[in-house]
Order: sequence, then C-alpha cells, then structure tokens
Amino acid sequence: MSRIQSAGLQRGQPVTILVNGKRESAYLGETIAGALLAAGHRAWRRTRHGEPRGLFCGIGVCFDCTVTVNGAPNVRACQTPVAEGMIIETDWVAEVNA
Ligand code: FES
Repeated sequence: MSRIQSAGLQRGQPVTILVNGKRESAYLGETIAGALLAAGHRAWRRTRHGEPRGLFCGIGVCFDCTVTVNGAPNVRACQTPVAEGMIIETDWVAEVNA
C-alpha cells in the first residue's frame, strides 16, 4: 500500500521514523498505523494463538494494532501520531514490505 497521490493534497512535514531498525518516511499528522501501512506492513503482531494482527478498528477500541514506541509497550498505532525520530518496534516482521 502506498500513500494517495493527488493534486492539491497537502501533507504535514516529512519525518523519519525507525521501524524495527529500518528508516521509513512518514508525515506529521499521520498515525503510526498509517505510516506502517504506507511502508508495506500489513500485520505487526500476533495473537497468543499465532494469528496476525494489525489495523482492525482504526478507532482505538480493539487494541489489535499495538506496537512498542520509544520503549513504551502496548501503544495503539491507530491513535498515536508519528514524530521525528520515533522508534517503533513490532512483534512481527514477516509481512514487512511485501
Ligand atoms: S486498530 Fe483497533 S485499537 Fe488500533
């Protein structure tokens, strides 16, 4: 998945985030989930039964999208805006940049 490209579409200031040690581009105003999807991540953690999870409700209710941010675990990616230099760790990297 990539970001929508459309004439007249304005984005926030570009920033760089670190996802599992890899530099990725994002824009201020995007959520972590949006940036992860744009970077090709479809699932970023697993349930205790091994099922993939990522963005599901997108409104902060299901907690399927949790990641570790700057060392803080269980941060909802759909509710947290990106910031310059943010360090994001996922529990699962198998679907990265498919
Ligand atoms: S996708 Fe449901 S809480 Fe983030």
